[in-house]
Amino acid sequence: MAAANLHVLLTGANGFVGSHVLDHLRRRDLAVAVLLRPGSDRRFISSHLRTLDVREGSLGNPSSLRNALSGITHVIHCAGSVRSLSRQAFFEANETGTRNLVDAANECGVNRLVHLSSLAAGGPAIPDRPAAEADAPSPVSNYGHSKLAGEEAVRNGAKGEWVIIRPPAVYGPRDTEFLRLFRAVKARLLPEVGHGLPLSLVYAGDLAATTIAALTSPGLAGRVLYAAHPEIVTAGQFGACIARRLGVRAWRIPLPVPLLWSSCLAQEVFARLTGRPSVLNLQKFAELRAPGWVCEPSPVWRDIGVECTTGLEEGVEETLAWYLREGWL
Ligand SMILES: NC(=O)c1ccc[n+]([C@@H]2O[C@H](COP(=O)([O-])OP(=O)(O)OC[C@H]3O[C@@H](n4cnc5c(N)ncnc54)[C@H](OP(=O)(O)O)[C@@H]3O)[C@@H](O)[C@H]2O)c1
Repeated sequence: MAAANLHVLLTGANGFVGSHVLDHLRRRDLAVAVLLRPGSDRRFISSHLRTLDVREGSLGNPSSLRNALSGITHVIHCAGSVRSLSRQAFFEANETGTRNLVDAANECGVNRLVHLSSLAAGGPAIPDRPAAEADAPSPVSNYGHSKLAGEEAVRNGAKGEWVIIRPPAVYGPRDTEFLRLFRAVKARLLPEVGHGLPLSLVYAGDLAATTIAALTSPGLAGRVLYAAHPEIVTAGQFGACIARRLGVRAWRIPLPVPLLWSSCLAQEVFARLTGRPSVLNLQKFAELRAPGWVCEPSPVWRDIGVECTTGLEEGVEETLAWYLREGWL
């Protein structure tokens, strides 16, 4: 389908990843509508709002989804829950919400749906045997299980074409998760998870570019693809890179597994008392004690010319510049 005939609905547009996808869609002058909940925080997309086709609705409200999909040919589904207090809340957003969207897309005759899943759905993997498209999934957390259930809703339910993308940890401007590491390093502390957990990473701008390529590239329909930079790093190496860029000397703070577990437990108890989900919790502990979160970028990205090429030094430099400019650091 020619770009001029595409009409894309983006969910989760006001979130971290979704706002980068929106920036890229607008730069390419594609016709875009966004699904937003009425009370959503819109600060990341404020520069687009004046000329943006905003369709209010929620993944939990099927009729709002059918309305939002009017005239839409392609969907990028970025909305999802990355932090929840309960297994049920993860499944409501990531499985039921995705199934509602797939059902509405079927009713509205959507041609292709690109679904943002996660390496967490594939499960842990080590550098010697990185997660790859053909591997059987083995998630270890409620988040990972709910993302896998969302994939199944797409795979088994979509009548049109679909592409599933599994990014590893994403970093870049507007990210609030790695921001904590940037702040710790600025305070000259460099926390290191006990066994030096190896990670794949993807820079948000690269992920946005691959997601948009998946909208129309013919060879990708029906595939589950990993989108990542090929470099593998530990949190310690990530922190050391931030320290270099900041020009500071940070003290290594080893976090052995028992200490990590007690911090996760304490934050989980606090989260339950306050009703506000925390970054660290016992589910996160299950992810952090895994032997690694490494994936092999799917070779097909190279074939279609949209590899994730932003390396750690460059990505950290750009992220840092953004945090400093916005006063986040
Ligand atoms: N960040 C990462 O490292 C990472 C890694 C791998 C995969 N992913 C995937 O990427 C996607 C985006 O993650 P993110 O980091 O950008 O998270 P985020 O900043 O928390 O954004 C989540 C987005 O989903 C929306 N959303 C949640 N529940 C919704 C509902 N019921 N109806 C409509 N919208 C809803 C949120 O809207 P509100 O503002 O209204 O809540 C927000 O726009 C997720 O699917 C996540 O699983 C993220």
